Amino acid sequence: MELGRGGSGNVLPRPVPGSYGVPFVSAVRDRLDFYYLQGQDKYFESRAEKHGSTVVRINVPPGPFMARDPRVVALLDAKSFPVLFDVAKVEKRDVFTGTYMPSTSLTGGYRVCSYLDPSEPTHAKVKQLLFSLLASRKDAFVPAFRANFGALLDTVESQIAGSGKSNFTGLNDATSFEFIGEAYFGVRPSASSALATGGPTKAAKWLLWQLAPLTTLGLPMILEEPLLHTVPLPFFLIRSDYKALYAYFAAAASDALDDAERLGLSREEACHNLLFATVFNSYGGFKLLLPRILSRVAEAGKGLHERLAAEIRGAVAGGEVTMAALEKMELTRSVVWEALRLDPPVRFQYGRAKADLEIESHDAKYAIKKGEMLFGYQPCATRDPRVFGATAREFVGDRFVGEEGRKLLKYVYWSNGRETESPSVDNKQCPGKNLVVLVGRLLLVELFLRYDTFTAEVGTNVVITGVTKAA
Ligand code: HEM
Repeated sequence: MELGRGGSGNVLPRPVPGSYGVPFVSAVRDRLDFYYLQGQDKYFESRAEKHGSTVVRINVPPGPFMARDPRVVALLDAKSFPVLFDVAKVEKRDVFTGTYMPSTSLTGGYRVCSYLDPSEPTHAKVKQLLFSLLASRKDAFVPAFRANFGALLDTVESQIAGSGKSNFTGLNDATSFEFIGEAYFGVRPSASSALATGGPTKAAKWLLWQLAPLTTLGLPMILEEPLLHTVPLPFFLIRSDYKALYAYFAAAASDALDDAERLGLSREEACHNLLFATVFNSYGGFKLLLPRILSRVAEAGKGLHERLAAEIRGAVAGGEVTMAALEKMELTRSVVWEALRLDPPVRFQYGRAKADLEIESHDAKYAIKKGEMLFGYQPCATRDPRVFGATAREFVGDRFVGEEGRKLLKYVYWSNGRETESPSVDNKQCPGKNLVVLVGRLLLVELFLRYDTFTAEVGTNVVITGVTKAA
């Protein structure tokens, strides 16, 4: 019998290759590789290559002093990654941000839904609350999106007329915040006296306080290392920002909070959870996703724009943008899935092995011990050439069109589950899954109802440089 070959059948599992190096020193050195010397993709790809395995032992950031233990087993292919979705095999308690957890003072003293394992009773209550909220507001999403992003595109046009360009990323930061508040609670955050127009800035600070250990702002290493990656940023500096965000939710979300009480949650715990699901999960997601969709579509060029415009205008046929019309837009939806596949906004997923396990990659079977931290770097899994072939790293807008295309959907993992599966109170799949794909489609609909084509410069920000209005 051969050791660890073939990946299935009666093959003995092999130990996971790789090494964590010298405690502390190697973890810091690896962090510098991750942020400054190699960059994220190279960091993981080079280690997989070195050990000839897509399941490999590595340190992950932030390491000392932020995280007690940076050692993980990394899953870097489409076959091994999905073990992270199986809550019978992995525990998801306090692993949302990985090997460190932000202070609960940033969430009112509560461990919010994203940090709860489904075995904890509060998980099902909060997740049910979110399902009910989204279901109760389903008719609000399309009009709220169109009003807010229609106004954004008016601004884009006037800025292009004035200075020849318009920073979509910056405009999206403000617009997504308004859109989500209006869509979820029927109250624009800018209408709240506590927030006024300061909501997006307060939200961005609060997000940074939680994600600093995993963030680089492009500052010199000598500043970022002590400021962002070594010790937590103190909560007192943003206490008043959090209070203002909370005040908006306490007032705007009163119907949802009534619902929460019926589900057995206190208003306070529910309100901190709604804040988190709205500002961290939803706003944090749309801040990243919408500019990425736009940049991929801009780079794809006029040929794709013409096809999208034809499909979208054909389905809407001069009428309203309805769910029925959206369902007819197969290419549009495929473009959104393709952007989510290539650039998953949440790149890291974690779970702790609940028992001794065997994990299979395409090539081998590996033995994992109970308690080991499993880590998936999603871009490696969703750009796996063994699944997506020679074009795995390219943007192919119509990849998921037609019956053959649909077969690949089960390898799209952005929501912490397969795109062919659904979130439930018993799993950890994103409850915003359908809404996210809807919003991505609505961005394309808004663009191509107005424009035949557009151009943009893609860098840290996506800057629209020209639009050609529909005849
Ligand atoms: C969980 C991605 C939007 C609410 C997750 C997870 C991912 C994810 C990867 C699993 C994290 C983990 O446990 O490892 C995204 C992306 C979004 C997005 C990329 C947008 C582009 C939303 C929206 C909501 C939402 C709109 C609104 C309800 C949540 C919640 C969880 C979650 C509450 C925790 C689920 C649980 O504990 O079972 N999301 N999400 N997300 N997401 Fe989303």
